[in-house]
Order: sequence, then structure tokens, then C-alpha cells
Amino acid sequence: MSRIAYVNGKFVPQRHAYVAMEDRGYQFADGMYEVAAFIGGALLDAERHLDRMEYSLAELGIPMPASRASIRLLIAELIAQNSRRSGLVYIQVTRGVAPRNHAPNAALRPVLSLSVLPVSIASDAARAKGAKAVTAPDMRWKRCDIKSIALLPNVMARGVSVSAGVRETIMVNAQGEVTEGSATNIFFVRPDGAIQTHPKDTHILGGITREVVIELAHAAGIAVVERPYAAADIPKAAEVFFTSTSAFVMPLTHIDDIRIGDGKPGPVTQRLIALYHAHVAKETA
Ligand SMILES: Cc1ncc(COP(=O)(O)O)c(C=O)c1O
Repeated sequence: MSRIAYVNGKFVPQRHAYVAMEDRGYQFADGMYEVAAFIGGALLDAERHLDRMEYSLAELGIPMPASRASIRLLIAELIAQNSRRSGLVYIQVTRGVAPRNHAPNAALRPVLSLSVLPVSIASDAARAKGAKAVTAPDMRWKRCDIKSIALLPNVMARGVSVSAGVRETIMVNAQGEVTEGSATNIFFVRPDGAIQTHPKDTHILGGITREVVIELAHAAGIAVVERPYAAADIPKAAEVFFTSTSAFVMPLTHIDDIRIGDGKPGPVTQRLIALYHAHVAKETA
């Protein structure tokens, strides 16, 4: 079954999905993206993803390419045309197509493209085993809250974990604080049972999974501390996990060859995995 994409206002086979050479996304990384999961054909946390999409576009001064309702309809059609029950939808909006010139022209028509990514959501078996990570310097700009398609520092950070043969790279800023993963948010379970994660500000991307996990933790009576965690304190963490649309809640068992806890997914992380599964089931029922 060939993949179907939406580009330039049409659904086309992915192999025929092209954008213009002078698309500002191609020439300046002048655009934003979203990734949302769909399960049983239903988009998970759709409104939250659309809120973040509107936020990124507003911060970049790019108009919404269509109404929220139209975008939801296009995504539903894309999922139906791809004949998949679950997976990930990739949404990208660039400022538009124009002769190369840095100046952002407010009159341009934004370019919306949609596709279904050929990857699966992490399995229960992967979560039961947990994953390993390494740390690397955070080399990014000062507006990490915008889900920009300019991902070179994230790509380079991820390259560090690829070379190390592990799942994720945890980025550490010049102050020695953990900001987030190359494409994930990082949580530490402290010895007192509270979970600590970097606050939602311009130094991190406010993950949708992060937001949901914080709400679930509050509702379950788990204390949440939104404060940067010192990389030097990684050995003191009882548990560590990351969150993302494609992995949900993933335990980290080793970071830079330091064993976290007893090297297995811990009880607080397992509880949050269960709570998150219940959230997914409710949302996609
Ligand atoms: C830098 C960064 N942080 C965090 C996340 C996790 O966000 P979400 O939970 O919305 O997938 C992502 C996802 O792509 C990311 O790129």
C-alpha cells in the first residue's frame, strides 16, 4: 500500500509529493511542524496539538494555513487514505514560496503539508525494558518553545546517541542543567518520590505528552516540581523517564553508563505509564 501525502492542496502518492525549490522552509527552515499520534484512527490530544500549532505559527508571524476544523478534516482524510489504524501524522507549515530574500513577506500564502510517518509508536515491550541515553551540550537558540523545522542542533545531538548506540541524547545547558532530550522531555523521580522536570519556558519545547503526564501526576497525588535538574545530580535520581508523542512515557535505565536506580523501570514511572495508557484509551475511545 503506497503512502499518501497532502501537499499543495492535493492528496498525492508520497513519491509524487514535492514542494517548490523556493519554499522558504527549504531555503531558510522558515516554518514549523507538529507530530501527533493516531490510534484506532483517532487523533490523540488533537486540540492540544492544534493549540501548539497555532502558538508556533503566531510566534513566527505565519498565518494559519486553514481553519482548525479544515485541518482536522484533512488529517482524518489522510489517515483514511493511508489505510492505517495507528501511527504518527506529520504536519508542516512553511511561510510560503517566494524568490529568496530573508525579509519575511506578510503577504505570502503559507504552505501546509501532511504525511503519515512510516514509524510505529513504541511498544509496551520497549517500555517494559526501558532505554539508555547519553548527555551532550544543548547548542540551540533562545526560542526552543517554537516547534521550528530548524532542527540542526537536535539532529546533531541525536547523532551523539546514535554513535553511542543508545536511544536518546539528554541536552545540558551552559549552567549544567538538563533542558530536554533531542526530541523528548526528561523527567527525574527524586528520592522523595516527587517528579522534577524543566519548566515550560523558552528553553524547551512544551511537549504535549509532558503536559498530559504532569496533569495525570497531579491528579494521582504525585508531587511535580517544574525546576531545572542539575546534570551533576543524575546519579542521585531514583528513576528517570522521557516523554514524547511517539514513545509515550519511556523509562531510562542508564545515562552515560550511570545505572539509574536498580537499572530497571521504577514504580513511579510504571504508574505514570499506566495512567498515560488510560488517558490514551479514554481519548481515542
Ligand atoms: C525538542 C523536543 N522536546 C520535546 C518533544 C516532545 O514533545 P511531544 O510530547 O509533544 O511529542 C519533542 C517532540 O518532537 C521535541 O522535538
